[in-house]
Amino acid sequence: MTGSVLIVGASRGIGLRFAETYAEDGWEVHATTRTPHDPGVLGDIAGDVSIHGLEVRDLEQIGALADIFDGRGLDVLIHSAGVLRGVSREEMRAINADAPLDVVDSLMPAMLRGQFRKIAILTSKMGSRNGARTPLADYGASKCLLNDRFRDLEPHWRTLGIRAVVFHPGWVSSDMGGAGAPVSVNESVSGMRRVIDDLGPRSSGKFFTWKGTEHPW
Ligand SMILES: NC(=O)c1ccc[n+]([C@@H]2O[C@H](COP(=O)([O-])OP(=O)(O)OC[C@H]3O[C@@H](n4cnc5c(N)ncnc54)[C@H](OP(=O)(O)O)[C@@H]3O)[C@@H](O)[C@H]2O)c1
Repeated sequence: MTGSVLIVGASRGIGLRFAETYAEDGWEVHATTRTPHDPGVLGDIAGDVSIHGLEVRDLEQIGALADIFDGRGLDVLIHSAGVLRGVSREEMRAINADAPLDVVDSLMPAMLRGQFRKIAILTSKMGSRNGARTPLADYGASKCLLNDRFRDLEPHWRTLGIRAVVFHPGWVSSDMGGAGAPVSVNESVSGMRRVIDDLGPRSSGKFFTWKGTEHPW
């Protein structure tokens, strides 16, 4: 079964691979990049692929993206954009913890017009308390905040018929994970695709790994 999917942060890494696999499967793919004028490999994907410019901290750009779906449905939303280093604590929080929920909020009307109503947000095991204290390092703290907000909001989304999860994608050999990471981008995305494909009301609200196992909060 195919439909429409929006992948936020598709210029490289995990988001790019999501765009490739959905396009290969014949989906209507909407992929965002900060450099739509120079999309790189994203621009080479064959199939029904539309490329949109999005800096996830820019609320006007998020609004413009939502306008594209005015009167149309969006079936699946995957938010992959994230940052591990090279920005301030405030910027990391804005990108990793604020932006995913700003994007979901703006795209919600389109999701509610969609047929599958599935949302997947990339978090990290670094954001897990796992029975211990709240992560202190900037990256873990931002993903922990994302997880807390997700758990606050998801029950309401569920009443609207949305099924939403957050993922730890593994330690993945993207630019972020580095060449020595044990999980390939392909393996990670294949695993998450299986979870998203099977996502039903009972799985909504959970923190999954790319293997489809539950991760402790
Ligand atoms: N790789 C891992 O081992 C690992 C582990 C745990 C969790 N994760 C999470 O998985 C997600 C994807 O990671 P990845 O490995 O694919 O990382 P990546 O290779 O570094 O790619 C990051 C993506 O996020 C986009 N992005 C960053 N800041 C942005 C902003 N302000 N506005 C719009 N787009 C922005 C980048 O766009 P540009 O090309 O424009 O920079 C790029 O497309 C992230 O949320 C990350 O935290 C990854």
